[in-house]
Amino acid sequence: MTVKVEILKPAIGAKVWFDRAQIGDPALSVQLQELLDKHTVLIFPRIGLSDQEQLALTDALGERINITAQVPGKGDAAEVYQVTLDEGANIEAEYVLGTWFWHMDGLTTSVAPPRATMLSARKLAPKGGQTEFASTRAAYAALPDEEKAELEGLRVVHTVTASVREVCGPEALDEARRGMFHVHPLVWTRPNGVKSLVIGSTADRIEGLSQPEARSLLARLLDWTAQPDFSYRHKWEEGDCVIWDNTCALHRVVPYAPESGRMMHRTAIAGLEAVA
Ligand SMILES: [Fe+2]
Repeated sequence: MTVKVEILKPAIGAKVWFDRAQIGDPALSVQLQELLDKHTVLIFPRIGLSDQEQLALTDALGERINITAQVPGKGDAAEVYQVTLDEGANIEAEYVLGTWFWHMDGLTTSVAPPRATMLSARKLAPKGGQTEFASTRAAYAALPDEEKAELEGLRVVHTVTASVREVCGPEALDEARRGMFHVHPLVWTRPNGVKSLVIGSTADRIEGLSQPEARSLLARLLDWTAQPDFSYRHKWEEGDCVIWDNTCALHRVVPYAPESGRMMHRTAIAGLEAVA
């Protein structure tokens, strides 16, 4: 089995080439999991996976989870979620427009956030549509000790309504999404001692801080995390597949025209642990 790796930045991103006939081979799965742990974002250039192959690769890397089916009333959501603003295909435009802003997936339910999310490019937008990733692990590690100490113990309320605050009022969301929220520590400490920030557009307020203090701190941490050393912008080519470690990275998409028909197919892998 041959796996070729090209590192994009020390803190985040690697291109990985492998033969898709090897999907399901345990040796490949182990190698890809190790690369994901190390590089946070893996790009499989122009691999051209079918939905069945994407599901097989997802299953090979962990326990598949249907993020949309966690929303009350959406238990029958498709296994492969279509991320698009095309009105014919997706009726959750407000929710998808929220992806234009830095976020982590799955922070507004009591289910552990997905370990990883996978996207395949099915149709590109002629302008915009690049996906950006930022390492919340590298960002935390580089904070001065004094600031790290100030963040310790803070708890953040994450809501769906906050994630669409730049897009629409809460009334535009369906009722099930409107009520979704969860409280997480601002700093996530893994059993192995590695720490990362838990921030992004879903972060609404911080317990015990005034709203100006909380929003200013959250905005500063976002700016810090998005700096070039810790982030990577992926310019998609048709057939590209990207998987990222959702537990230590933010992501967002560069705005694109809804009528472009841009279409990404999404699957996700269940988280192993709650934020702690
Ligand atoms: Fe997302």
